[in-house]
Amino acid sequence: MDKLLIAGGQKLQGRVKVSGAKNAALALIAAAVLAEGETVLENVPRIADVEVLLHILDDLGAKVSWLEENTLALNIPAAVGIATPYNLAKRLRASNLLLGPLLSRRGEAQVPLPGGCNIGTRPMDLHLKGLQALGAAIELEHGYVKASGSPQGNRVYLDFPSVGATENIMMAATRAQGITVIENVAKEPEIVDLANFLNAMGAKVRGAGTDLIKIEGVPELHGTRYSVIPDRIEAGTMMLAAAITGGNVVIQNVINRHLQPIIAKLQETGAQVIEGEGELQVIGTAEIKPTDIKTLPYPGFPTDMQSQMMALLSLSQGTSVIVETVFENRLQLGEELKRMGANIKVEGQTAVVIGVEKLYGAEVKACDLRSGAALVLAGLAAEGETSINQVHLIDRGYEKLEEKLRSLGADMRRISVD
Ligand code: UD1
Repeated sequence: MDKLLIAGGQKLQGRVKVSGAKNAALALIAAAVLAEGETVLENVPRIADVEVLLHILDDLGAKVSWLEENTLALNIPAAVGIATPYNLAKRLRASNLLLGPLLSRRGEAQVPLPGGCNIGTRPMDLHLKGLQALGAAIELEHGYVKASGSPQGNRVYLDFPSVGATENIMMAATRAQGITVIENVAKEPEIVDLANFLNAMGAKVRGAGTDLIKIEGVPELHGTRYSVIPDRIEAGTMMLAAAITGGNVVIQNVINRHLQPIIAKLQETGAQVIEGEGELQVIGTAEIKPTDIKTLPYPGFPTDMQSQMMALLSLSQGTSVIVETVFENRLQLGEELKRMGANIKVEGQTAVVIGVEKLYGAEVKACDLRSGAALVLAGLAAEGETSINQVHLIDRGYEKLEEKLRSLGADMRRISVD
C-alpha cells in the first residue's frame, strides 16, 4: 500500500503534457477483440485500469505487447476466449465492455455481474436490454451475465445516455446482420473515438457525437493502427491544479472542444484560461469565486470532474452548490475535505460548499479515483503536509501523476506503508 505525501503551498508553473484518455483506451482495447489479427494502439496511458484489462485479454488468449512506452500491440486469435474471469474482472468495472465484442465474435460471452462500486450501484440493465434487442439471449446465473446468439440489427432506445451501454451495443452491432439504430445515446468524446476506431477496423458507424447512432453491420472487421484521444479529465485535473495553487500552467496535448464545459466553469471561478492550438494556459487567482455545478452527461459538466471542482470551491470566497445527477454516491469526498478544514454540507445528491480561507494538511483517504485526484489538489493548496491513503485508486487512472506535478513545482512524494 502506498501513500502520497504532499507539502502544500507551491504555485504550480510550467508546461505539462496530457496522456491518452483512460475511458477511450479501455473501450478501444475491448473493441480490438472484434477482429482477428493485430491491432496497434498509440497514445495508450500506462495506468492500472489498462493493465488489468490487458491481463483479461491475455487470459482470453490474446497476445499483448508494448512496442513503445505508449504504443500497444494486440494480437487477437481466431478462437478468442469467451469468459472473463471474476478475479480480474472484479478489479475493473469496464471489463463488462467485453460482453458486446465477444458476443459478436463468438456468438457467446460471459462476464461477471459488476456488483456495486464506491461511486454507486452502476447496474448493467441498459447494456443487457440493448443486447436483447439485437436478439441475444441473456441469462443471469451465479453472479455472471451470459449472452448468446448472433446479433441482428434492430432499433434500441436507451432510457439514459449511458456511456458503457452505448459502447457495448455499438460494438455488438458492428458485425450484426442488418442495420442497428441506437437512440438517446451518450455523446461523450470517448464514444466518438470508439466509433472512429471501429470505422478504421472496417465498421460502418455513423452519428457518434449526436443523440442517434446508426450502424450498418458488416461481416468482418480487420485490425488497424489508431491513436487514442487525449484524456480530458486528466487535462481538467491539471487545469484545476493550476487554479487551486494560484499558478500558471500550460496544458499540452488537449482537444479544446472537449474541455469547454470545464473551461466555462473554471472561468466562473475567476481563473484565466487562454486557449491555443492543442494546448491551453490556466492562470489562477488568489480570489477564487464561488459557482454552482450540476453534473450531466456530455456536453454537460462531467461527473468525473465534480470532486476536483469541490476541492477548488472549498477555497472560494462564498457559497457554491454542487448537484451530482449521474452517480448516487459521489459526494462522500466532502467528509475527507472536512478533515482538511473545508466547510461542506452534503444532503442527498447536493453538496453546499462554503468557502474557507485555508485548507490544512491532514491524513485523508481516496474513496475512488477522482476523489483521490481531488485530495491531491487540496493537498497542493493546503498549509502543511497532507498524507493521502489508498493511492492505488488514483493509480487506476492517472499516468505519472506525481512526476508531472513535480515537474510543475509540486512538493510531493510516495512512500510504501505496510
Ligand atoms: C463511464 C466512465 C466513467 C464516467 C461515466 C459517466 C468508462 C470506463 N467510465 O462509466 O468514468 O464517470 O461514464 O460519464 O468509460 N446506468 C444504469 N444502467 C446501466 C448503465 C448505467 O442505470 O445499464 C446508470 C449508472 O448507474 C450511472 C449512470 O447510468 O448512474 C451513468 O453510467 P454510465 O454512463 O453507464 O457510466 P459508465 O459507462 O459506467
